[in-house]
Amino acid sequence: MSRAPLPYSQKIIELFKNPKNAGKMEDATVTASVGSPICGDVVVIYLKINEENDVIEKATFESYGCAANIASSSILTEMVKGKSLAESWKIGWRDIARELGELPSVKAHCGILVVGALKKAIREYYSKKKPPPKWLPEELTAEEKHVLKEEKIAEALAKKVRA
Ligand code: FES
Repeated sequence: MSRAPLPYSQKIIELFKNPKNAGKMEDATVTASVGSPICGDVVVIYLKINEENDVIEKATFESYGCAANIASSSILTEMVKGKSLAESWKIGWRDIARELGELPSVKAHCGILVVGALKKAIREYYSKKKPPPKWLPEELTAEEKHVLKEEKIAEALAKKVRA
């Protein structure tokens, strides 16, 4: 039995075939990686940050994931380029979906994962390089909670495998 193809937008297909900003960044200021044990996909976000003004000069990604994950990572790295960390922090997974011309509902998780990685990288920057600014909330965002939940599932699975 063959499955019906997912209703991907033209933009998703285009970015999946020709992703922008794909690849490891050797001189990244911060890196964050998140993974989903549910689908087995992993995404790594690299940010080159101007530490004078906290502006993202360059962003790249590595994705071991589905077409929606690759397209989401690609569009996110385009969206944050030239933006301050404060502006980039405001980007949510719905903004990614909008830029992509909508994500199929079963693929919303792919956008959430990518935004979770961005937020993890921003928190990492402020925990290692500078004291956290006022705009950075202590409470985790919906995307971060989602990523954390998946990481806990991964840990539990790993424990089961080791037992
Ligand atoms: Fe896992 Fe897309 S299905 S990131």
